[in-house]
Amino acid sequence: MRTIAVLNMKGGVGKTTTVINLAHILANDYRRRVVVVDCDPQCNLTSFYGASEADGPTVADVLRGTHEPYWADNVIEVTPWLSILPASTQLWQLDLAAIKAGQSNITALRGFVQAMEEDQEIDVVLFDCPPGFTAASTAALMAAQEVIIPVLMDGFSIEGMAEMLAQVSSIRSSNPGLKVGGVLINQWHRSVPVIQAEKVLRAMPVPVYTQTIRRSDKVLESTMVKEAVADYSVTSSAARDYRLLAQEIFGEGKQHGQV
Ligand SMILES: Nc1ncnc2c1ncn2[C@@H]1O[C@H](COP(=O)(O)OP(=O)(O)OP(=O)(O)O)[C@@H](O)[C@H]1O
Ligand SMILES: [Mg+2]
Repeated sequence: MRTIAVLNMKGGVGKTTTVINLAHILANDYRRRVVVVDCDPQCNLTSFYGASEADGPTVADVLRGTHEPYWADNVIEVTPWLSILPASTQLWQLDLAAIKAGQSNITALRGFVQAMEEDQEIDVVLFDCPPGFTAASTAALMAAQEVIIPVLMDGFSIEGMAEMLAQVSSIRSSNPGLKVGGVLINQWHRSVPVIQAEKVLRAMPVPVYTQTIRRSDKVLESTMVKEAVADYSVTSSAARDYRLLAQEIFGEGKQHGQV
């Protein structure tokens, strides 16, 4: 089982879009059993799948220890291959102060995914993290083996990279196996500043995925109809890029229905 946190302290860089599209490709093309975990009180991923906190336990319950004892009773099945542990607005209250006060346990998500691993029913867990370091994103980093860091190609993102990596490193004292899978260049387009920023990023001592995700209006359209762009517009540049990214990250080229 692979557990991957999609994380960046910056907002609006494509974390949720990346989780949605990798989950879609893994579930539909690769026939992997996927659980997505929405760690963001904005609940974008949760509402994308039409779920809500009214449907049952959420990440906030797992952090507080008020969830159902058996992991599978906490997730909502979206398709036979894809389930979600939703977020709730209660995550706004469960900040780092709540950890100190003992109301929130940052190792709880690790226990949750360990139970999945023991049952051997899930192949990939993807955590959609909120911007910033919150109780839930810290808990996701404690549970993950890998981090994908989507970034936009601007000076602020490049500047923030060192701090971002330092924060991930600081988690390693408690989760020594955590590695940066890669930085993912999102909304790539042919322009001088983007190409310059990409050059700077690729010269930094951090793994950067070869595959970039191009900027495409089809991504914006796909969010309006709540479909993964990989499904909404299969021939769009972003859909093709996400499929190649999935191959780069998960390898094997095990595309369902393809030779
Ligand atoms: N490749 C792309 N091309 C065009 N638009 C994109 C692309 N990727 C993401 N977007 C758009 O950028 C916006 C932010 O994306 P998204 O919500 O995935 O970012 P996020 O990092 O999850 O944001 P937050 O930090 O608020 O959780 C959305 O409107 C999304 O549709
Ligand atoms: Mg998001």
